[in-house]
Amino acid sequence: MKVIYPQVQAFLATTHGENSESLEALRKKALENHVPIIDRDVESFLKFMIRAKGVREILEIGTGVAYSTLVFAETLEKGRIVTLERNSLRAEEAGRNIEAYQGPVAITLIPGEALESLQTLEGPFDLIFIDGGKSHYRAFFEAGVRLLAPGGMIISDNVFYQGRIFPGATVARRNRTSTRAMQQFLLEALEPPRHSVVLPLGDGLLLSLPGEKEVCP
Ligand SMILES: C[S@@+](CC[C@H](N)C(=O)[O-])C[C@H]1O[C@@H](n2cnc3c(N)ncnc32)[C@H](O)[C@@H]1O
Repeated sequence: MKVIYPQVQAFLATTHGENSESLEALRKKALENHVPIIDRDVESFLKFMIRAKGVREILEIGTGVAYSTLVFAETLEKGRIVTLERNSLRAEEAGRNIEAYQGPVAITLIPGEALESLQTLEGPFDLIFIDGGKSHYRAFFEAGVRLLAPGGMIISDNVFYQGRIFPGATVARRNRTSTRAMQQFLLEALEPPRHSVVLPLGDGLLLSLPGEKEVCP
C-alpha cells in the first residue's frame, strides 16, 4: 500500500542514489517476474541508517532473491550479513546472486525456516531486518532481541500489510489470522519496554529499539 502523495512519490524517485549495474539488473528482473523486493524509498532509508549508525553486522529474515542482501552488501564497507530464507527455489536463486558478489562483505545465506535458524545463530548484529512471513513478525522480533548488539536496531518492513491492518479494511478470510498477528505485533512493539516508530515509507516501516532489559550484555 502506497501512503505518500503521488507528487511526493515522484520527487522521491528522483532522489535515490545509484546502485551497481548488477544490482540494477537484479532489481529489474525481480520486478519483471513479480518477485517481492524492498521498495526504493525503504532502500534509500536503510542505506542511510547503515551509514549513519556505522552498521557492520546485519541479520536479515527473508532473503527473497537476495536483492536487499546485496543492497546491504554494497552499502557496508566491511562486515558480515547473515540472511535467512525458507523457500528452496528462492534460496537457490539467492545463492547464485550472492555467489556473483565480489565485495569484501561476508554473506552467509541460511536456507530453511527462520524460526529454527534463529535459535542456533550467534550475534551480535547491529541491525536486524525483518522481511519474512507476516504471521511471524512477533516471533522473529523476540528471537532477534537475543541477537542484537547493544545500541542495535530492529527494522521491520511491510507493517501496514498492504493496508490490511487499518480499521475498516476488507481482509480476505485467508489473511485474517496474519493480519491480527501483525496488528498485535505492532501494538507490542510500540509499548514499553520497546521503543518504536512507524515510518510511512513503502508499505510501512517499523524502527524498534528492544528496551534495556532484553539487550545482550
Ligand atoms: C518480501 S520477500 C523478501 C524480499 C527481500 N528482503 C528483498 O527485499 O529483496 C520475503 C521472503 O521471506 C521468505 N520467508 C517468509 N517466511 C519465512 C520464514 N518463516 N523463514 C524464512 N524465510 C521466510 C519468503 O520465502 C520470501 O522469499
